[in-house]
Amino acid sequence: MRMIRGALVSLALLSGVRAVTVDGPFSNYQTKISSSPRNPVYPIDSVDKMEADAMPNVDAWMHKKIAAGKNNNCTLDNAAIRKEWSDMAEEERQAYTSAIKCLMKLPAKSDKTRFSGAVSRYDDFVAYHMTHAMQLHDNLHLFGAHKYFVWLFEKALRDECGYKGYQPYMNYDRYAEDPGNSPLLNGNASSMGGNGAPDPSYKGVPQYGRTPNIIKSGGGGGCVTSGPFADMVVNLGPTSMATGSKLPKNPKTDGTGPNPRCLRRDVNRNAAMGATNEKANSLLQNTEMNKFYDQLLGSPVPKNDPYPWGIHTAGHYIAAVDPGGDPNTSPGDPLFYFHHTSLDRLWWIWTSQSIDTRLYALPYSNATMNMNMKERDAEAADDSNPLESLVDMEWLGPAIKLKETHDQLGGNGGLFCYIYV
Ligand SMILES: *[C@@H]1O[C@H](CO)[C@@H](O)[C@H](O)[C@H]1NC(C)=O
Ligand SMILES: *[C@@H]1O[C@H](CO)[C@@H](O)[C@H](O)[C@H]1NC(C)=O
Ligand SMILES: *[C@@H]1O[C@H](CO)[C@@H](O)[C@H](O)[C@H]1NC(C)=O
Repeated sequence: MRMIRGALVSLALLSGVRAVTVDGPFSNYQTKISSSPRNPVYPIDSVDKMEADAMPNVDAWMHKKIAAGKNNNCTLDNAAIRKEWSDMAEEERQAYTSAIKCLMKLPAKSDKTRFSGAVSRYDDFVAYHMTHAMQLHDNLHLFGAHKYFVWLFEKALRDECGYKGYQPYMNYDRYAEDPGNSPLLNGNASSMGGNGAPDPSYKGVPQYGRTPNIIKSGGGGGCVTSGPFADMVVNLGPTSMATGSKLPKNPKTDGTGPNPRCLRRDVNRNAAMGATNEKANSLLQNTEMNKFYDQLLGSPVPKNDPYPWGIHTAGHYIAAVDPGGDPNTSPGDPLFYFHHTSLDRLWWIWTSQSIDTRLYALPYSNATMNMNMKERDAEAADDSNPLESLVDMEWLGPAIKLKETHDQLGGNGGLFCYIYV
């Protein structure tokens, strides 16, 4: 890949000589990536390769940003690394689950009168998601607002619970064939917890308009009995959108009241198979944002496919019942953060293949919702540009412009500064 260096081009234009081309690398990203350990059980797959192949683009783009003074101090050399769960050492994984359990013990900061059921700092994030679910999932915000939401969660783990690592993601393909026996969900001390007890009354998750029209139960559905979250107390929810069976009712109709109960899961191969490497690879072949977005959401509905859910849905139901299966309260299962980090990674890989044309791409959809998250910014140059609108995280963090959420290497004043490995 040959890149033209911006500063030299301007000089060349001024002096009338031919533009000089400069090859990368411009940073030590290769050393940085190759020194991040990988689990030898899982060979590099085609999506990992796409990610690696796009790094010279990212390096050249960062080089230009640095030359223009627009990188907010973020460089590839100082960027944080978000890792795949199985590539993390067992101690790193346990440090992560301990930090989550710490957040579950710290007192909530959200409004007690509005969320009488929010007990912990962990619940503050569930409370935000359940009251902003419509806005978080519209076409403008699915990627950007979730990026910010997950980043704030990662920041809380680090700042408030002394966690030294970063938010892990899951390469779904590593677990899709047998999620229940995977390092992610086998229920041992370095996993994210195990399956729920069998509950024959839990049938699965209906999928209207698809064939098959249900993600059939994987055999769980009851309380999780093994791993770090076996004793977890779920507080908020369920809401009217819950998918679990025979769940204890919340005292408030909107699910915001106190309802302490166990974490319920159904570790589900039928869901996970909708997010294989083949599916992610196919998703990343889309050159238009609209098509990339639609395919992620399973639209148009794939034909002759036993797992036609779309990666967004598939990822949510890999282990979901309650609160993970309820679109409002899904961050109540810590696995939520793995899924949305994985979607963030896929979005970033897609962007990094053609940064100049894709960085600020927004999907168009007629389903755009009435967003109370979208506020006018009086100082915005173009008030009608959605990228200039504000993503307000209320009690979780300050409002920032949507466009800031698109740049994970220098956005949000440089606070976003991470890569995936
Ligand atoms: C970048 O770092 C320098 C030195 O620490 C600091 O003075 C400056 O304010 C930082 N700039 C930004 C945009 O964060
Ligand atoms: C947990 O399971 C994984 C995957 O089977 C294994 O590599 C690891 O050694 C186990 N760890 C513990 C603490 O049992
Ligand atoms: C979306 O809305 C526009 C404008 O109302 C309309 O022309 C277009 O057909 C709609 N597209 C879809 C897919 O409904």
